[in-house]
Amino acid sequence: MPKVLLETKKLTFFYPGQAESSAPALKEINLQIEEGEYIALIGANGSGKTTLLKQLNALLRPTSGEVYVDGISTTDENNLPQIRSLCGMIFQNPDNQIVGATVEEDVAFGLENRAVPPPEIRRRVAAALELLGISHLAGFPPHLLSGGEKQKVALAGLLALSPRCLLLDEPTAMLDPAGQAVLIEAVQRLNRERGITVIHVTHFPEEVVLAGRVLLLENGSLLKEGPPSEILTDLPLLHRLGLRTTAAGELAYLLREDGFPLPAGILHNRELVKHLCLYAQKN
Ligand SMILES: Nc1ncnc2c1ncn2[C@@H]1O[C@H](COP(=O)(O)OP(=O)(O)O)[C@@H](O)[C@H]1O
Ligand SMILES: [Mg+2]
Repeated sequence: MPKVLLETKKLTFFYPGQAESSAPALKEINLQIEEGEYIALIGANGSGKTTLLKQLNALLRPTSGEVYVDGISTTDENNLPQIRSLCGMIFQNPDNQIVGATVEEDVAFGLENRAVPPPEIRRRVAAALELLGISHLAGFPPHLLSGGEKQKVALAGLLALSPRCLLLDEPTAMLDPAGQAVLIEAVQRLNRERGITVIHVTHFPEEVVLAGRVLLLENGSLLKEGPPSEILTDLPLLHRLGLRTTAAGELAYLLREDGFPLPAGILHNRELVKHLCLYAQKN
């Protein structure tokens, strides 16, 4: 039986100073996320994605309702250190996350803060670098790395803490396509091979299709959830919210609208090409 790792019950949140008469940043969100799931979290700017991620590792805590991480409520302050090591978060800008003078020091930072003995720190740092294929960068100054490499260093810093869950807030937004591909591949492998749960906020439909489940936020409410094949093919909904599907999904939708005989649910280039070639052969 898969275990529920993250749960929210009627999670509502107002930022301090936000008038209670105004709309909350998060409104009555009920969520259950099982250990090992790969979730894409999408929504327009300001819909509450970052706020929700911060609730899931107790950087922020509910105004009302509850958040549970591995059954532990974020409401009790005594639980916060434990929750934060279970669930690590990566932000959009890799430069804001660098603290060490070398990659090794940077990755060790979280462990040092937790007073882990030095030999254990060295072992864990080496293992995290190895896992992400960046052992050769250990002595390198992180500020000289590419954006993609910096994000891998940030990820290694989380992995050194043995998290059960990774919260990724638009981690590829500032990366070039090659850096983007390398980071996403690493995250997918951690999910597949180590069973680490991933909640990935992204505006890239090509990343959303990789998820097992998509959560769609609108104005702080959970508007819809389902597999990518369901969410990314609802073009009227996506367009209303100012969101996109994949290039193949967009094209297939327009072709179908104009009466071209294609099955519903195409999201990948390969699928679309296959159907167009079949059609060309028959006609
Ligand atoms: N520190 C803050 N103080 C007050 N309001 C905030 C703060 N951060 C975000 N908000 C508001 O909360 C809502 C959700 O923001 P956010 O979670 O950052 O959205 P997203 O990540 O989806 O773009 C927005 O209306 C935003 O203006
Ligand atoms: Mg955000």
